[in-house]
Amino acid sequence: MQQQEFILENVEQMRAWARGFAQTLTAPCVVALHGDLGMGKSEIARTIIQTLRGADTVVPSPTFTIVQNYDGISHFDLYRIEDADELVEVGLQHAMENDITLIEWPEVASAVLPTDAIHIFITEYNSGRRMIVKNIS
Ligand SMILES: Nc1ncnc2c1ncn2[C@@H]1O[C@H](COP(=O)(O)OP(=O)(O)OP(=O)(O)O)[C@@H](O)[C@H]1O
Ligand SMILES: [Mg+2]
Repeated sequence: MQQQEFILENVEQMRAWARGFAQTLTAPCVVALHGDLGMGKSEIARTIIQTLRGADTVVPSPTFTIVQNYDGISHFDLYRIEDADELVEVGLQHAMENDITLIEWPEVASAVLPTDAIHIFITEYNSGRRMIVKNIS
């Protein structure tokens, strides 16, 4: 499995990285965004969506709606999902088979993620972030 490490010292570096990463994504694919509260999962998802669907695309956090769709891109936040059984109702499987699927708090779905899912692990690093990316092409 290919793994890469990136140090992003600020939000601008994080967005620049995400713009480049977005260009490598073609549907269907799954990007699992791991990291504690405020690590930048939504920031990465928003940048990917705006890169692929237009800079003026409004990308709210899906914490309460669980999923937001952008014409073939599905953005999930599974923070409020308590049981993997609930994933069927929110359409995760259908999205993963068809869309570019971006998932915040993906741990509850670990049993159903495809083996070729790209996993991004974000942690604090000084005042910026360190990211480990697995399965990157
Ligand atoms: N590389 C970076 N260096 C420093 N700060 C960053 C970096 N990337 C993002 N941030 C900041 O961290 C915060 C990330 O917020 P964001 O909502 O994206 O986090 P999240 O991981 O989605 O949180 P939640 O778990 O609540 O969904 C933003 O305020 C952003 O400005
Ligand atoms: Mg978020």
